Amino acid sequence: MLTLKNVNKAFGTNEVLKDISLSINDGEIVSILGSSGSGKTTLLNCLLGLVELNSGVIELDGKDITQLPIEKRGLNIVFQDYALFPHLSAGRNIVYGWRNNPSVSTQEEVDALIDLLDLREHLDKEIHELSGGQKQRVALARTLTLKPKVLLLDEPLSALDGVIKESIKDTIKEISEKYNLTTIIVTHDPEEALTLSDKVLILDGGSIAQYGTPQEIIQHPANSFVESFILRQLHVKRDNILKLFGDQHV
Ligand SMILES: Nc1ncnc2c1ncn2[C@@H]1O[C@H](COP(=O)(O)OP(=O)(O)OP(=O)(O)O)[C@@H](O)[C@H]1O
Ligand SMILES: [Mg+2]
Repeated sequence: MLTLKNVNKAFGTNEVLKDISLSINDGEIVSILGSSGSGKTTLLNCLLGLVELNSGVIELDGKDITQLPIEKRGLNIVFQDYALFPHLSAGRNIVYGWRNNPSVSTQEEVDALIDLLDLREHLDKEIHELSGGQKQRVALARTLTLKPKVLLLDEPLSALDGVIKESIKDTIKEISEKYNLTTIIVTHDPEEALTLSDKVLILDGGSIAQYGTPQEIIQHPANSFVESFILRQLHVKRDNILKLFGDQHV
């Protein structure tokens, strides 16, 4: 279990995270949703250890990891721009970190990941020869060879379109289930958050507006912010779709 207790973070006088407390169970997929500047990436950076807290505690499996350096935390991240090495092939990118830590995963486990992510036929390709979805899967594979206890994803789907987005969503779900991997995903898209995750964390100006299951959030929005920001966006989408459909038949 990953637990945050009264986490605060300010950059100068800008209070970016305000008294964040929550728990995430092993194997759960949690989406973080909120407007631009609401503190989503900062929260991931605090978990990862890239950014130091002003106050508060982060615990993983009951152990205080607040002061631990990045490499000892057991968390790993896939950045939005994938951060792949352009001069290495897809295959070499995948094993890059693992070759320095070969005891973490067996060769069979790495092979299984390559097959699960459908990357076998792309191993010899240069990074620039890959599609966005393929790059995303290479970045995922590279991170998963290191067997993190918690996988952090910062807007992994925002650069992808329709069909590819759906297939990566399915892959993320499959991996999370197969490896009982706790997964935290930052997204701008309420629909994505509500369909992909076990729980959704909604941030409003650095505070928790609501943390609950998609069903709880849809049926019992905690306040007017949740209702307007999340649900109205969904309704607008649905209404637009209905309108478009109707217009074509007028
Ligand atoms: N290293 C930093 N130094 C100073 N201020 C920062 C730093 N990182 C983030 N901030 C500020 O913290 C606030 C939250 O930024 P953050 O990147 O966490 O937002 P976000 O929710 O991820 O937004 P977006 O959806 O645009 O990615 C912003 O006001 C930003 O300017
Ligand atoms: Mg961000």
